[in-house]
Amino acid sequence: MQPLDTLNRPLHDLRISVTDRCNFRCTYCMPKEVFGRDYQFLPHEDLLSFEEIARAARLFVALGVSKVRLTGGEPLMRRELEILVEMLAEIPGVDDLAITTNGSFPLRRIQTLKEAGLKRMSVSLDALDDPTFKRMNDVDFPVQQVLDWVEASAEAGLSPVKINMVVKRGVNEHAILPMAHFFREKGHILRLIEYMDVGSSNGWRLDDVVSAREIRDRIHAELPIEPLEANYRGEVANRYRYVDGSGELGIIASVSQPFCGDCSRARISADGKLYTCLFAIAGTSLRDPMRSGASDEELIELLAAVWQKREDRYSELRSAQTRELPKVEMSYIGG
Ligand code: GTP
Ligand code: 5AD
Ligand code: SF4
Ligand code: SF4
Repeated sequence: MQPLDTLNRPLHDLRISVTDRCNFRCTYCMPKEVFGRDYQFLPHEDLLSFEEIARAARLFVALGVSKVRLTGGEPLMRRELEILVEMLAEIPGVDDLAITTNGSFPLRRIQTLKEAGLKRMSVSLDALDDPTFKRMNDVDFPVQQVLDWVEASAEAGLSPVKINMVVKRGVNEHAILPMAHFFREKGHILRLIEYMDVGSSNGWRLDDVVSAREIRDRIHAELPIEPLEANYRGEVANRYRYVDGSGELGIIASVSQPFCGDCSRARISADGKLYTCLFAIAGTSLRDPMRSGASDEELIELLAAVWQKREDRYSELRSAQTRELPKVEMSYIGG
């Protein structure tokens, strides 16, 4: 069965948040004032077990999913993540298995992830200079360690490595060109992301967004680029190539040019709720029926029913009113 939602969108892409914790406190995602010492993260027993995650993934594959991405929080905060990667890599129909990480862990993990069956690595990095990067991660983490992670990932064949940079006005916009130059030379795909109003704690203001058009124009003025076709329907990033043939970059315009029309992504939060939009207010628990003995058939029916009812297109509707709604945090639902 391959259900379509109310806007005729299929389900292709599953993003699994394995933990709501992170060792960084990026100001746009987990600001310290909110995610401080007293913040109540999910207790371990509330998290889906690896067996439960793998079971859910198998059911999603039956409904059309072929791409799986592990997110968080920071997915590598979850102990022995390699075991989960191995379980997911073994599921027939999972053609693509990727992870989004901050690249702050010991480099030996790259090899163990690769051996477990991981296919691709996306690494978050917001600047090349320490003062700016440290100001954004807010835990004094240095750039060089993340760059080492990027290189080691490429050497391990987890490629193409993608570098995710959230651009915030007045904070790291000066880093756009240095980042473009650097990763073009290294042969990795930089993706510049418009700062989004996800969650309720980052104090988002439209004035803080540097638009995709402005990002493109700034790069084009120094390093001429031209658009490329999307790799697949519903791809999040607008792809470009450097005109001199030296590589590719992506710009993610979720604020200025929403891409809800083709959105085929479902998300599972760390505590096992299914969300059909990054900006959702409520999810549907998969953990509760799983723990009270639901059969695979019953769960598939539940998933299909949720997808068939799906109407989400938050970014297209974004307005003063929708911004007031109590949305869930990105660290909980997954980036
Ligand atoms: P590929 O599989 O390599 O194409 O990666 P991807 O672009 O699907 O995933 P990735 O996690 O790298 O996405 C990069 C960023 O795009 C995320 O961190 C978000 O900021 C944004 N993003 C991803 N999916 C969505 C979405 O469904 N809606 C919105 N509004 N933004 C999204
Ligand atoms: N806007 C855009 N992207 C965000 N991310 C987290 N918070 C935001 C936000 N407010 C994304 C970044 C980061 C990933 C883990 O989550 O792409 O790389
Ligand atoms: Fe952690 Fe990534 Fe959020 Fe930064 S953006 S706080 S690294 S989950
Ligand atoms: Fe999909 Fe919601 Fe993002 Fe639109 S806002 S692209 S529906 S996740």
